[in-house]
Amino acid sequence: MYINFWYPVCKTGELTPDAPRRVELLGLNFVAFRDDGGAAHVLSDTCVHRGGALGLGQLVDGRVQCPYHGWQFGGDGRCVHIPSLPDTTPPARAKVDSYPVEERYGVVFAFLGDLPADERPPVCPVPEYGQDGWRASEIVVLDIDCYYERSMENGLDPAHNEFVHPRQGFPPMLEDTFEMQDDPWGARFWADFGDPVLELTEFAKDRNRTGELRAGSWFHGPNGLVTSIFVNRDSNLVQYFFEAPVNDSHTRIYFLNMRNWLLEPDKDERIMQTNLRIVKEDIGILEALWPVRTPPTLTREIMTPSDQVVVRFREQLAQWQSRGWQIDRHAMHDKHGDVAYAIPCPDRRASGNWVLDPVPLLAPEN
Ligand code: FES
Ligand SMILES: [Fe+2]
Repeated sequence: MYINFWYPVCKTGELTPDAPRRVELLGLNFVAFRDDGGAAHVLSDTCVHRGGALGLGQLVDGRVQCPYHGWQFGGDGRCVHIPSLPDTTPPARAKVDSYPVEERYGVVFAFLGDLPADERPPVCPVPEYGQDGWRASEIVVLDIDCYYERSMENGLDPAHNEFVHPRQGFPPMLEDTFEMQDDPWGARFWADFGDPVLELTEFAKDRNRTGELRAGSWFHGPNGLVTSIFVNRDSNLVQYFFEAPVNDSHTRIYFLNMRNWLLEPDKDERIMQTNLRIVKEDIGILEALWPVRTPPTLTREIMTPSDQVVVRFREQLAQWQSRGWQIDRHAMHDKHGDVAYAIPCPDRRASGNWVLDPVPLLAPEN
């Protein structure tokens, strides 16, 4: 798991000015809330007084109030009120990490890391969103008992379809059409497919010109996954999976489906049901993969040409590790229950005197 990327925290509608929301991400707890002006905030969940869970508290005047002794923290993470010291300004040390937030596509994203704004990767782009001729689904949340890298690699992998999703009627891939290109924060892989087995195909009547089935998949950062399917030259489904690594064995996915045909609202239900049936087929495979987390070297698996984008994903992860962004899970486990960690927020680069230790990171490689 990596710091310095945007992670989905919840759906926008799930954040109200009525109550804070406690969310686990990257094996740590966070509190998300909306202030009186409607702005969303995401803070580290651990109260710096004596360890209360801010996400279990309440909202008072647009601030989150710790359920233990009532200290109140604003959206910038600063404590502004200590009930037992009513006439005293809270000390400068009374602050928790506060993370940049963006609301896009019906999802609240938090930047979990300390990079300054001009060095941050963008939130996973959805160029079709809001464009004429495209229809967006509601965001659907999927909980899976698997490590998020396994889920990402499954979405990138073009070769599992004909076995895991036989009702799609996907024919074998045409290897000589494989095409991979790098993106600033990821890579894209495209392949053409031969004639589908029409009678088994979900969108058979739309796929009326054979030889036009083309599918691509790509990743943006460690946790943004996109699958694009051209069922014919004009009809395109683009599926966005904003993946939240809850911890090292559980993943929550915020799923957005974009389409440029069957645009009538009454088609939404049918398309989402088809998507969810397919996702369930994937979940059955993912939850049984062993080991739970991907092996540390390629020698523990056997890769083929259709796995090349999976290999590219792992190379990219290694690059982010070499920048010192990978969380040291083992060090974190060793101290579990003994040390409260926080993902360092951007303000840690400008000010010192933080109560919580920053999460342990694997040393950058030179
Ligand atoms: S632990 Fe939060 S106010 Fe005391
Ligand atoms: Fe799949």
